[in-house]
Amino acid sequence: MDNFTFHNPTRLHFGRGQIEQISSEIPTDAKVLLLAGGGSVKSNGVYDQVKAALSERTVIEHWGVEANPDFDTLMPAVRICREKKIDWVLAVGGGSVLDGAKFVCAAAPYAGDPWSLVEDFGSSITSALPLGTVLTLPATGSEANSASVISRRAMSLKLPFMSPHVFPQFSILDPETTFSLPPRQVANGIGDAFCHVVEQYLTFPTHAAVQDEFAESIFRVLIKVGPKTLADPTDYDARANLVWAATCALQGLVGCGVPHDWSSHMIGHELTALHGIDHARTLAIVLPNLLEAQRATKREKLLQYAERVWGINAGCEDERISQGIEKTREFYETIGIPTRLKDYEVTADVAPIVAARLAGRGMGAIGEHADLTPDRIEAILRAAA
Ligand code: NZQ
Ligand code: ZN
Repeated sequence: MDNFTFHNPTRLHFGRGQIEQISSEIPTDAKVLLLAGGGSVKSNGVYDQVKAALSERTVIEHWGVEANPDFDTLMPAVRICREKKIDWVLAVGGGSVLDGAKFVCAAAPYAGDPWSLVEDFGSSITSALPLGTVLTLPATGSEANSASVISRRAMSLKLPFMSPHVFPQFSILDPETTFSLPPRQVANGIGDAFCHVVEQYLTFPTHAAVQDEFAESIFRVLIKVGPKTLADPTDYDARANLVWAATCALQGLVGCGVPHDWSSHMIGHELTALHGIDHARTLAIVLPNLLEAQRATKREKLLQYAERVWGINAGCEDERISQGIEKTREFYETIGIPTRLKDYEVTADVAPIVAARLAGRGMGAIGEHADLTPDRIEAILRAAA
């Protein structure tokens, strides 16, 4: 196991009725910017609960943060923070609203060009406004991590940044707030969380038994409760387990002291930037083919994954690996996420474009062994056609 320092400062309030905890988290004299998306939180009653919990505080609202939050949508919120001297930001919505809020919190006190905070992957961030979140879509882990992904459609870009300054101070995880999600977004959440665990687990063995078995337990829970919560969206226990699994998938513990491979995400972000495909769906397109392309270097972990996650014990090693990869593809298809580019009306012509865009941004050799070069990325996407 590699050395690591683990620190996750986000206080999590999990369960029914927990939105009222906002009143003990945000000081009564705070001036709060409430950031939200396109309106789902108004129709499902979450907004009313949040407003009641904020009661006497001064609240300014900013709506309209879209899926894959855009720099140009967020900049007006940055200006509000500066002009109105906002001292807390409360994000109410899915991963996009939360990620957008992280950008706003970091950009508001920053004197330079706000886009440079994203371009340098967050390394210039030295302070941020305090952030609280009410998560309504279990998927990204943004409610308990220091990452954010910002799009800039005007430049056809989608880039991640990270900074310890943007960890939420607190997050509310009330599974009932997610009952109103359409099946497509529930499936996206399951598929995204699954891939987060893959990217921190399916590399090579480093004798990290706790991380491995934690990862495997999250896989098994997602495989079990995913279809269940899709079939019965208001089954509290199934949904609660999805919410907690998605948070655990990307709040740091699974990934400490082990190698990571974020290639599926990096390739997937390009597909979203170019074709607007939902984040989780890009992962379903890339992941099975990436595992196939990397079956030699990921061999030991693929065997462990096939056996411990999918119960595949029969056949020679190569057959077991193939079955494990096939099970992964089937899982995405079963929850309603197609795994081929053509399912999204995109042709293999996108393959060299994605490879060149990544290389142009210094990602000409990605993966845990830095062996995914542009020609190999292109081949992975061609195989996904
Ligand atoms: O805008 P509203 O009206 O709220 O509707 C949203 C949106 O249309 C809707 N929704 C959310 N909660 C709902 C609801 N509809 C009904 N009932 C509810 N309770 O769902 C739609 C999609 O929301 P979005 O926030 O875009 O989805 P998600 O949570 O999947 O976030 C995706 C974004 O997160 C980034 C992705 O790249 C993408 O931009 N990621 C962030 C990560 C991180 N910060 O660590 C890691 C991930 O890998 C990912 O890259
Ligand atoms: Zn993701």
